[in-house]
Amino acid sequence: MNTNNENYKLKSIVPWGRNLDEYKTIFNLSQQDLNSKILGCGDGPSSFNAELTELGGEITSIDPIYEFTKGQLSERIDEVAREVMAMVRENSTSFVWKNIKNPDELESTRMGAMKNFLEDYEQGLKECRYVHEMLPSLSFSDKQFELALCSHFLFLYSEHLDFEFHLNAIMEMLRVAKEVRIFPLMSLENEYSPYLDKVINRLEAKGYVAQIVKTDYEFQQGADEMLVVKDMQKYLEETPIVDYSNKKVYSLAMNLANGCKTDTQITKKCFEYVRDNINHSGDYRDEITTYKASDVLKYKTGWCYAKSHLLAGLLRANGIPTGFCYQRLSCSEYKKDIYCLHGLNSIYLKEFGWYRVDARGNKEGVNAQFNPPHEQLAFKIEEHEFDLPVIYSEPLDEVVCALKKYKNYDEMIENFPDVESQYV
Ligand SMILES: C[S@@+](CC[C@H](N)C(=O)[O-])C[C@H]1O[C@@H](n2cnc3c(N)ncnc32)[C@H](O)[C@@H]1O
Repeated sequence: MNTNNENYKLKSIVPWGRNLDEYKTIFNLSQQDLNSKILGCGDGPSSFNAELTELGGEITSIDPIYEFTKGQLSERIDEVAREVMAMVRENSTSFVWKNIKNPDELESTRMGAMKNFLEDYEQGLKECRYVHEMLPSLSFSDKQFELALCSHFLFLYSEHLDFEFHLNAIMEMLRVAKEVRIFPLMSLENEYSPYLDKVINRLEAKGYVAQIVKTDYEFQQGADEMLVVKDMQKYLEETPIVDYSNKKVYSLAMNLANGCKTDTQITKKCFEYVRDNINHSGDYRDEITTYKASDVLKYKTGWCYAKSHLLAGLLRANGIPTGFCYQRLSCSEYKKDIYCLHGLNSIYLKEFGWYRVDARGNKEGVNAQFNPPHEQLAFKIEEHEFDLPVIYSEPLDEVVCALKKYKNYDEMIENFPDVESQYV
């Protein structure tokens, strides 16, 4: 039987949860993200954990409601659902019916998600996938997770949780995970959280990169952005593709930096080297496909993606944080009516912040330059084309797979990597 205290606590919680598809849209989760070790903070009765586990994912959720039994949560969900749905129906014009089409669909989606959660809950408790813990203090070890997510808790409840709580909670998520994503950035008052700018400033002062990224999810009006916070270290890492300790890559990186006084000067030298001294494999019809930075330098050729790997290697070797960006463009130059990804870099310059450059190589009609803060890329976005909004710390899987698989010019032009949505 419930004690009075337990009863009071149970009455004070409002369990309400979303499903995996919603989480994917809310956080722009790619397959790469879904394959990584994830911590969900404040997942409550969402079915994110149950559905992702079913698909073979590795996910742990923490929430204060996990102190209650399945029966207690089930009862409370039924009470809350009646109250919340009555409120939504009464105020339906205040919400955006885009991802979810109407209140009936909302009710069936939410109830479906929470039913899935309840069916998985006891097994998940046994497997320690549902853990009764609370921000801002977690028991996990440092960097135990790749990604920590927080949906509809931080920033949303800005009237109830103060600035210190927000900063401490985000710092704790960054302690246990390499990357943190938080959605939405609006409070319940439908205004940006009053803490957002201050949180971003404090995180940047601590050496993190905090980026506001648009997502394709909107239910609360105007709330369609998330905060992505990463350790700058991710943009400096050597990887099998960005293999900058390779002797030739490293010595070129040091030679190019020689005599430069600032990171901006080093970046200009490295950018111009890759743009002007490495063939664009398509422009030169080179019969080899490179993907590792060291091979791009060795064979002096690479498609746009591969050239961005070498530029990242030269800059990371000099301690300059560098990421990968993509645009989806028409590739009519190679084939009619076809779109594909185009690869370029974003570089973190102390003086200017993130700055995009395109080292694919200039030619008639293409004139990419390094002139921060002015951005001068190789291509302007035209109708049906788009920029992918994320600065990736590793090249996209789709791109690396294509470069590894298709060995020569003819194979590549038949099989350029592509994505259908800007939210991959
Ligand atoms: C509005 S619900 C969001 C549920 C789910 N993340 C979603 O988007 O569907 C907010 C959740 O935050 C949880 N919560 C409250 N205080 C918390 C804390 N200190 N740390 C972590 N989660 C907390 C609540 O129990 C609740 O499940």
